[in-house]
Amino acid sequence: MTAPEIPRPIPGARLLFSLDPSVSHLNHGSFGALPISVQRAQQRLRDEVEANPLRFYGSGLMDRIVHTRRHLAAFLGADPDGSALVPNTTAAVSLILQSVGLRAADEVLLTDHAYGAVTMAVRRQCRRSGATARTVAVPLGAAAADVTARIRAALRPGRTRLLVVDQVASATAALFPVREIVAAAREHDIPVLVDAAHVPGMLPVDVSAIGADFWVGNLHKWGWAPRGTALLTVAPAWRRRIDPLVVSWEHDEGFPLSVEFQGTIDYTSWLAAPAGVFALRTLGLEAVREHNVALAAYGQRVVGEALGLAPADLPGPGGPGVSMRVVPLPAGLASTPPEALELRLRIADKLAAEVAVNAWGGRGLLRLSAQIYNRPEDYHLLAERLPALIREMRR
Ligand SMILES: Cc1ncc(COP(=O)(O)O)c(C=O)c1O
Repeated sequence: MTAPEIPRPIPGARLLFSLDPSVSHLNHGSFGALPISVQRAQQRLRDEVEANPLRFYGSGLMDRIVHTRRHLAAFLGADPDGSALVPNTTAAVSLILQSVGLRAADEVLLTDHAYGAVTMAVRRQCRRSGATARTVAVPLGAAAADVTARIRAALRPGRTRLLVVDQVASATAALFPVREIVAAAREHDIPVLVDAAHVPGMLPVDVSAIGADFWVGNLHKWGWAPRGTALLTVAPAWRRRIDPLVVSWEHDEGFPLSVEFQGTIDYTSWLAAPAGVFALRTLGLEAVREHNVALAAYGQRVVGEALGLAPADLPGPGGPGVSMRVVPLPAGLASTPPEALELRLRIADKLAAEVAVNAWGGRGLLRLSAQIYNRPEDYHLLAERLPALIREMRR
């Protein structure tokens, strides 16, 4: 095997975070990690709230929310007037499902890469409305044109009321050609919800150019924003039909304010989110992305090799820019969700490494993230220790 190129670290980057140095943090994708500067920005806002809660909530809060939304929408190439700050992708998905008005003869089409909680939300809304949820299979490592063709072939004009696709999938780290998929669905007037939970900060994105009816991305993963910060963009034709999950004082203002204001909650995550974008820009978005993409590929090769996998056995992301890679686990290992959870916890406890493990298509997939605080040694250490742990578990 040719030795994979070792990406050069960004000097000092590790010190920007407060992560426990005794652990290899190889799962930025699940819950992110906050630079210290962003933690401080949020703490300053909390201090401001506690100095005078009446003043914080009662004077100028909506203006600050709108200002923040404009900032984040500009970062993502989204229409600021057609976007709303929401707590997370999970909340946005339920909001959209509630708003599209599913009826008994309708179906919602998902792929088999969809995030588990998204699939659950679709199933619940289908149960309530009498609609059907249908899944189209997309093989791991399929080429972009093949992915689009499979989804196009699965659309049922007149029946499919909503298509839900990931931009970067969770369990498989696959990149979906969402622009082409949206164009294919548009030919039949089928609305598309793009689950872009991993996209802000990870990929350069122009949300308006994707043209989806609904697009939602978390800022709190790769955008280094405090948890509880996501942006939902809604196409003009749908904005009046958005039916907020929580009704509060801005309800009659319509989208986006009707969605954003939810009474007395903690808005400091949203207001501190631009500090995450600022930190990314200060280091250089391109430099961060290049580092992360190269290190994820490197980590996949090193860990894959330790498990006896050749480069050809390691699925690529299906396109450029993804800072997560999966390593297929030996057959029969972590092939169900409880087994996947058990393996993840064992790796955390015994190997001091945080990774994602998912059961996907009857196969266990180990997902490795790369962020600027990671070093090649993090993956070397896991590669050295994982085979013995797997042998022990199989005994
Ligand atoms: C593809 C995808 N969709 C949705 C979510 C849910 O994100 P959140 O928990 O922030 O709502 C995740 C979380 O990892 C994800 O990976």
